[in-house]
Amino acid sequence: MTMARYAVFGHPVQHSLSPRIHAAFARQQGIAMAYEAIDATPDEFAAALAAFAAGGGRGANITLPHKQAAFALCAGASERARRAGAANTLVRRDGEWHGDNTDGSGLVRDLADRHALDLRARRTLLIGAGGAARGVAPALVDAGIGDLYIINRTPERADALADALGQPGRVHTRYWSDLGNLGGFDLIVNATAAGREQSTMPLPNTIVGPRALAVDLSYGEAAIPFLAWARSAGCAQAIDGLGMLVEQAAESFALWHGVRPDTAPIYAELSGRAVALATGD
Ligand code: ATR
Repeated sequence: MTMARYAVFGHPVQHSLSPRIHAAFARQQGIAMAYEAIDATPDEFAAALAAFAAGGGRGANITLPHKQAAFALCAGASERARRAGAANTLVRRDGEWHGDNTDGSGLVRDLADRHALDLRARRTLLIGAGGAARGVAPALVDAGIGDLYIINRTPERADALADALGQPGRVHTRYWSDLGNLGGFDLIVNATAAGREQSTMPLPNTIVGPRALAVDLSYGEAAIPFLAWARSAGCAQAIDGLGMLVEQAAESFALWHGVRPDTAPIYAELSGRAVALATGD
């Protein structure tokens, strides 16, 4: 019998921690599976995914920049994937791909469970409106945050995300140039690619509320500039995306194997060396 095949698709993908995380989960749960990293450019992605399915692929994680393309290739999708318009987890069922998105619940689980933070009623600023922002925004709203302000370098994308969330009384968009007039926030989420692309992103200190929590969805080197800004600007806590990565992986694992692994051991192992890593997924 051939071993069940799983993979993470991305570009680049060689620094992805997902193979290591899933191997640790499989060992812990006594499940035999193969999990590899597959590099595919946007042009190659659809063919690479089809070849993987033909070769016995049963499930896939999708990372940058393919989450929206993956969603478009799915025959069916969960409600949270539809709300995000992006899929980070694919399950092969009856010869078709079904898409899900575990990023948002992974983030909320990391903040609420691992870090024991109460998200309810937090006045929240979401910076960015790309695939990463779309993945987490619905879960943040569902977790009971207070008003959500979305800013994005390209304002139209922020408006599109706010429309997709469908809560006009609670979700607002603002121009980047208005940031200095918005007052302080209790939760500031960086969902931009600025840190990964090593481009600068100017933020005024006035957005930091008295007990502000700053979260970068990236980890490793990509998260350093924003988290350094957050600490120097007076945020009470600054958290990178490593815990979210581990939690979204655990939820993907549960979708494939029907059992949720314990994330504490692998998180402890990875957080010791996370700062040396260059890319996020
Ligand atoms: P991802 O899947 O990581 O979200 P994406 O869909 O390409 O990738 O989105 C990248 C996000 O980072 C966008 O919100 C982008 O802003 P634009 O929509 O205006 O492109 C944002 N971004 C990237 N570099 C940035 C920078 N230097 N300053 C501010 N925002 C930046």
